[in-house]
Amino acid sequence: MKNHNLIYILRLLIILSFLISANTIAQKKIKVESPNKNISVEFSLENRSPFYKLHYKGKEILKNSQLGFSLKDAVPIKNNLKIVDTTFSNFSKMWQPVWGTEKTILSSFNQVKITLQEITEKKRKFIFVIKAFDDGIGFRYEFPEQPNLTDVTIIDELTEFALTENTDCWWIPGDYDSYEYLYNNTKLSEIDLSKYNYPTRGDRNHPNNKAVNTPLTMKTKNNIYLSFHEANLTDYAGLTLEIKNDNKMEVNLVPWADGSKVKTKTPFKTPWRTIQIAEKPENLLNSNLILNLNEPNKLKDVSWIEPMKYIGIWWEMHIGKSSWSRKPQEGSWSNNSHIHGANTENAKAYIDFAAKNNIKGVLIEGWNTGWEDWGTESLEYFDFVTPYPDFDLEEIVQYAKEKGVEIIGHHETGGQALNYEKHLENAFKLYNRIGIKAVKTGYAGTIIPKGEFHHGQLMVKHYRQVLETAAKYRIMIDAHEPIAATGLRRTYPNMMTREGVRGMEWNAWSTGNTPEHTTIIPFTRMLSGPIDYTPGIFDITFDKYRKKERVHTTLAKQLALFVILYSPLQMAADLPENYKDNSAFQFIKEVPVNWEESKYLRSQIGDFVTIARKNKDNWYLGSITDEFARILHYKLDFLDKDKKYKALIFKDGKNSNWEKNPTKFKIEEKIIDSKTILRIALAKGGGQAIILKPLK
Ligand code: NOJ
Ligand code: CA
Repeated sequence: MKNHNLIYILRLLIILSFLISANTIAQKKIKVESPNKNISVEFSLENRSPFYKLHYKGKEILKNSQLGFSLKDAVPIKNNLKIVDTTFSNFSKMWQPVWGTEKTILSSFNQVKITLQEITEKKRKFIFVIKAFDDGIGFRYEFPEQPNLTDVTIIDELTEFALTENTDCWWIPGDYDSYEYLYNNTKLSEIDLSKYNYPTRGDRNHPNNKAVNTPLTMKTKNNIYLSFHEANLTDYAGLTLEIKNDNKMEVNLVPWADGSKVKTKTPFKTPWRTIQIAEKPENLLNSNLILNLNEPNKLKDVSWIEPMKYIGIWWEMHIGKSSWSRKPQEGSWSNNSHIHGANTENAKAYIDFAAKNNIKGVLIEGWNTGWEDWGTESLEYFDFVTPYPDFDLEEIVQYAKEKGVEIIGHHETGGQALNYEKHLENAFKLYNRIGIKAVKTGYAGTIIPKGEFHHGQLMVKHYRQVLETAAKYRIMIDAHEPIAATGLRRTYPNMMTREGVRGMEWNAWSTGNTPEHTTIIPFTRMLSGPIDYTPGIFDITFDKYRKKERVHTTLAKQLALFVILYSPLQMAADLPENYKDNSAFQFIKEVPVNWEESKYLRSQIGDFVTIARKNKDNWYLGSITDEFARILHYKLDFLDKDKKYKALIFKDGKNSNWEKNPTKFKIEEKIIDSKTILRIALAKGGGQAIILKPLK
């Protein structure tokens, strides 16, 4: 009897221990799927080291990819880990952005939070969070407060993306200071940085580092489109991706001057690492993944935030009609460096033009003292509050107000972030007092403090400080030479737009942008957020000012860019005299900057893009092509079924293309409805812009 009992208990113990160990083994593979189940992410510990992989519709997109960190003066966090907790949850909710490309956004995902802890003496721990949406995934690391991990210096984030094949990529180099490049389209394995010779490349820690900036967009052999970026970058280093052998990429963070990457303290969270996934290129444009990985709006009162179109004393400096400074300057962008663009009379002329033409904003650059010292050794020459004597700041703002126009202020820092921080409060206080509610900032130059990069942690924090200070003074921001957009506009909707792209200005003083450039931007740079590209140049060759330089599109394509390249502060960049008697200006006058809905029609990265956007009952359609002429056909089944629409079509002229007669265009009227198949003929380097209004 006794024996029998013992055997029974032993048996029970064996079964129990089997169950426990089976449980721990099962725990080591943790899977989370998107709500529609197309995407799945699997986390696992391999020899107690963390990995993840990614599948789309059962196909492996990423093989087992390493996770972890190298730290300064500490053992790396990536080995000897055990899972101590796994918590699944899901979420589905609509939310309303303050402004944007649509009125409501769905955030729907499944999430897992995996708490990992070292089994070794220090018992350091972190939580790995994965969110799987229908349009992609985000994952990040959260470090709670803990005794053996307080001050943290990250030497390297070890996150990998181990692709299963040699994909087709659209990339720009991983310059730590700038995203202003034309895109390359090559195989992943053929990414080659040898033609780039940028002085600030991060050679200090990665002597041979072959890194690209994000969003990095690619296509697999099975025509699955992927885009890699980050979301909610607030107090961390900017991301570049280092291309390794065997189709592997690894996070390569932008360093501090001392070579380390991130200086922080627990508790902290990394930005989200994001992968957008779509079966058609245009569906990438439909994705709100990056916004959905940011926190809700923190600003209680948003009544002062107002998307608007603007013109400005700007292009005239870039093409050399006038200058920012008041003294002839060597090495200036401008050939007419003795003519000061920002004078009271000129400002009033722009304001008058804006008031007459349904343009709400006027940007004025070169209004404040200091520009004479641009490009010299001297530092701290801008104080951001002293206007030039020929520019009556308060009178101009008052004059604008009376005409219902907003002045957009300008803070060029020359890269001297330290100096800007000293003047920040006063500069915003001044603008707030006199009634300026939008500011364009700029960081054209090497960052001071010396050795820091535009995309490093110091500057990430700086841009954030500027944004928060601006919010305090009820001011909207348009940042040039910025850190990449990562969705912060959801949390701070005064973060309107930014450059971070090779924009229009390059056409004014360099070999310029190719006709193809703007057919790639929507699928790369624009996935991160709005772009201050500054479209709308009508005088395509501006021969009066410069013979060699020119814009490489037709005029009609310039119109289409107002729909394609979304920006809540959208510049009509040309000189008022070039708009004045041109009937194409009608489109710019009418096109809105805020949208209730956007439809992304059939498009091909680097070839052609077509987008329709809705404001009130009207639709606005833009279609652009690269250097090839094309005829595209689209169903307009997104239009109201029971309505007829008047289409006002701005198209490339006969025998016009970007090289020949680029300014020729034709305006046509047609009645169409939801059953119409729209035929769009685009010239080489051309485009088409259409206003669709329901007939009453
Ligand atoms: C570069 C900016 O991108 C451009 O828009 C601005 O006019 C100049 N810096 C001067 O601030
Ligand atoms: Ca092409």
